[in-house]
Amino acid sequence: MKSNKEKMIQVIIPSVFKELLTLKKRIKLYYGGRSGGKSYAFADSLLLKGREEKLFIVCLREIQSSIKDSVKKLLEDRINHYGFQDYKVFETKIENQMTGTVFSFKGLRDQDPQKIKSLEGADIAWIEEAQTISKKSFDILLPTIRKPNSEIWISMNRELENDPVWVALGANPDENTFVKKVNYYDNPFCPQEMIELALKTKKSAPDDYAHIWLGEPVSEASCKLIQPLLIKKAQSGQFFETSSPLVIGLDIARFGDDESVFCFRKGRVVERFEVFKKKDTVAIADIASRYLEELHPKKLFMDIGANGAGVYDILTDRGFAPQIKGIFFGAKASNPDRYVNKRAEMWDGILSFLSQDLPVLLPPDEMLFADLTSVNKKYDPMGRLQLESKEEIKKRLGRSPDRGDALALTFAAPVYETKETSFQKTHLFGAGCIQAADLFPKSRYYGW
Ligand SMILES: Nc1ncnc2c1ncn2[C@@H]1O[C@H](COP(=O)(O)OP(=O)(O)OP(=O)(O)O)[C@@H](O)[C@H]1O
Ligand SMILES: [Mg+2]
Repeated sequence: MKSNKEKMIQVIIPSVFKELLTLKKRIKLYYGGRSGGKSYAFADSLLLKGREEKLFIVCLREIQSSIKDSVKKLLEDRINHYGFQDYKVFETKIENQMTGTVFSFKGLRDQDPQKIKSLEGADIAWIEEAQTISKKSFDILLPTIRKPNSEIWISMNRELENDPVWVALGANPDENTFVKKVNYYDNPFCPQEMIELALKTKKSAPDDYAHIWLGEPVSEASCKLIQPLLIKKAQSGQFFETSSPLVIGLDIARFGDDESVFCFRKGRVVERFEVFKKKDTVAIADIASRYLEELHPKKLFMDIGANGAGVYDILTDRGFAPQIKGIFFGAKASNPDRYVNKRAEMWDGILSFLSQDLPVLLPPDEMLFADLTSVNKKYDPMGRLQLESKEEIKKRLGRSPDRGDALALTFAAPVYETKETSFQKTHLFGAGCIQAADLFPKSRYYGW
């Protein structure tokens, strides 16, 4: 007998989930974006069902290193929220003392066949975060849940076009499978801050909004920062003269990479890349000194992470400080509202450079093409552009996108085309040379 107090408990499950409790189907798959109410609705529905009759409910996910990874905590919270006295929570399971219903929690990966067998008696299997389920796990699981009238409940956010569970069940559902999409706007309990975050993303990054909040899978193309067509166009353009000043970007080999790359850009013309293998700090500083002395770039932007710091120090010692600027890829962006770090900001500089409706030229270099298309973008919760980590890119590309990084460095800060004054013309750069500032240290004409 349930107490009078308990009889008054009201459980509200959003109507979009009504089929969980009302429809008889072997498979029920709910998918969609964040905050659709899936986890709560599944938990509440299972708790209600478990109070009506004796059920063996298995809550599954791909990896469950500890019980903390499971939905046990959510079920526990909902039991406490409703004040269900008939449920008793144990260390690794939850039991209903009236009906004998048992909830158990398992990770599918690393399950030995013996343990998988224990799922055979399940009445309901809830697969949470099913987008992470591997093909192997899924192929073992499906025939294991085979008790007559058993059901498989699946909740997932779409990740890729070919998520195994989606391909097997969602893409072409058969008559035993019920599929329903559910998003944050279907969830009457969706917290206000989540709605605001969703609408902010909708404005700043529509592709990410479609993926994160509308549950669309990420398509290969939409996550690339720079579309291949833009690069092809710039690589096949006709050469044109430019009077813009030279800017050099220098990406310095680090962490086992062996290539240091100089990029030479004049305005909208990227003239060339020079690549140096297996050179130490002093050798790179010597090469950079030569370029600085002979080519007089308006600015040389150089990476000063890891080995770059040494090269920077040598160049500063040699008197090149006014011509060089050190850049940390991880540093704060000039526009921190739009970019997670300097690296994202500089790479977005390449994108703007290639996207403008003006002539633009890139060398027809296949490795440059591969570098520029290798970088995937994402957005942080504040809607700021963030690039995939260098490690992730390296895994896919088999190397670092050094040419891309060198080009990105040329966009580290705007370089203006100023008319040189006669004082500036007397400024002599280079090792052992006397600088104008040395001759007139107090001169008001020198800001250095
Ligand atoms: N029945 C409910 N009662 C109260 N709040 C609820 C209820 N259902 C959902 N919510 C609120 O909506 C939020 C999102 O719900 P839930 O976590 O179930 O969504 P989800 O679809 O599983 O999202 P995600 O994809 O982020 O896991 C919850 O954190 C909670 O604040
Ligand atoms: Mg969830």
